Amino acid sequence: MPKAKKEKTAFQCRECGGAAPKWSGQCPECLAWNTLEEVRVPGAGGGLRLANYAGDPAVQDIGQVAAPAMQRIASGMAELDRVLGGGLVAGSVVLLGGDPGIGKSTILLQALGNIAAAGGKALYLSGEESAEQIALRARRLELGGGLRLLCENRVERVLALAEAERPAVLVVDSIQAMMTETLQSAPGSVAQVRESAAALVRYAKQTGCVVVLVGHVTKDGQLAGPRLLEHVVDAVLYFEGDRSTSFRLIRGIKNRYGALNEIGVFAMTDRGLKEVGNPSAMFIQRHPEALPGSVIFATREGTRPLLAEVQALVDKSAQVNPRRLAVGLEPNRLAMILAVLQRMAGCPLYDRDVFTNIVGGIRVGETGVDLALALAIYSSFYGRPLADGTVVFGELGLAGEIRPVQGGQERLKEAQNLGFTRAVVPKANAPKKPLRGLTVVAVGRVGDALEVLC
Ligand code: TYD
Ligand code: MG
Repeated sequence: MPKAKKEKTAFQCRECGGAAPKWSGQCPECLAWNTLEEVRVPGAGGGLRLANYAGDPAVQDIGQVAAPAMQRIASGMAELDRVLGGGLVAGSVVLLGGDPGIGKSTILLQALGNIAAAGGKALYLSGEESAEQIALRARRLELGGGLRLLCENRVERVLALAEAERPAVLVVDSIQAMMTETLQSAPGSVAQVRESAAALVRYAKQTGCVVVLVGHVTKDGQLAGPRLLEHVVDAVLYFEGDRSTSFRLIRGIKNRYGALNEIGVFAMTDRGLKEVGNPSAMFIQRHPEALPGSVIFATREGTRPLLAEVQALVDKSAQVNPRRLAVGLEPNRLAMILAVLQRMAGCPLYDRDVFTNIVGGIRVGETGVDLALALAIYSSFYGRPLADGTVVFGELGLAGEIRPVQGGQERLKEAQNLGFTRAVVPKANAPKKPLRGLTVVAVGRVGDALEVLC
């Protein structure tokens, strides 16, 4: 076979756009380090097109645009469909990110298996694992036949084969393993990832095939290549969860076709991921006796209320700068709450190490956790637990006031359903009608809230 003619490439700085003919560690223009990346140079005649725009899009009235109802393909897993906003939308591109080994390949293989079993055409493309490995996994997951498989990492060939195969759903596992022959850089490099993704996105839009890209997350929690894919895809889902436990969460952080921040909850079993219908029950654990520093809080993820546990450990620091650690929480929120506790509640925390954690490996980005976090820190500092059966939510203001949060009623309902007997909530979130079996303690200031501790 004659060797395909390589396109010309050059290097361009990601920061300033400066160009260099050869790679070097430092941009010759802005002097930033490690910002040069390979880019394609359009060949002769490939420059600006001047005439003949026939068939190109024209300006039109938005009311005249035909907008057919969206066609969605169910993945056969209600929790996954929920995050997607009701299933995979034809022609859309979804990015599924997560740490290695968290279950990305597993869930997508399961979803494709379901789609194939329902008569849909599904193609699983692996650039990382061999066909045997994937077949073994499929047996373990007890998937039926009908699922098509391809092990290849050259995008050009993938697209040629997909043209013949015409799948309704194509899973690309992973985008970092894909490469285009027009670039010389190694698979996984920024340029390769970007070009491969661009080709796959074009394919999805042209054919109406759903393309799901798997993306590994780097150590600092970003998708390889500085969030470089997030803006070119229609939906971004992230896998979360602590690998030492079986909980797995899929969170939608961008969705052009559904609600934001929706979550799906799963448990990893020896036969793949199983959906969890009642996630709150999974994240909270009733302790035989009340523990200082542990507080159950009610949060809201997307449209769904969720109970979880926050823990704090406060101890005398041996260092000049005490350690402050927030796992599953925003460090800045922790710093703010410590300041409020110190100033408004007279809790001397300046020489203490403070460690905080959301149990079960979930991440909470919402402000409703503030009050629970403050209570957990205070509780650990004074060794005073919160009585069993208590749930807490509320935002903390800098003046020490407790502010209301959205969805108070649903949070209270969820606590009631799970058998909680007392709720500490912001005044404005107190229910008008009493809830059976649940005593509501409405608080206005952080000082009042601290009085609920034993
Ligand atoms: P995998 O889907 O390969 O992770 P990723 O693609 O995100 O890197 O999942 C890997 C983990 O899941 C692995 O440690 C084995 C475990 N696992 C199970 O516990 N049960 C199963 O049925 C399967 C298929 C995997
Ligand atoms: Mg994998």
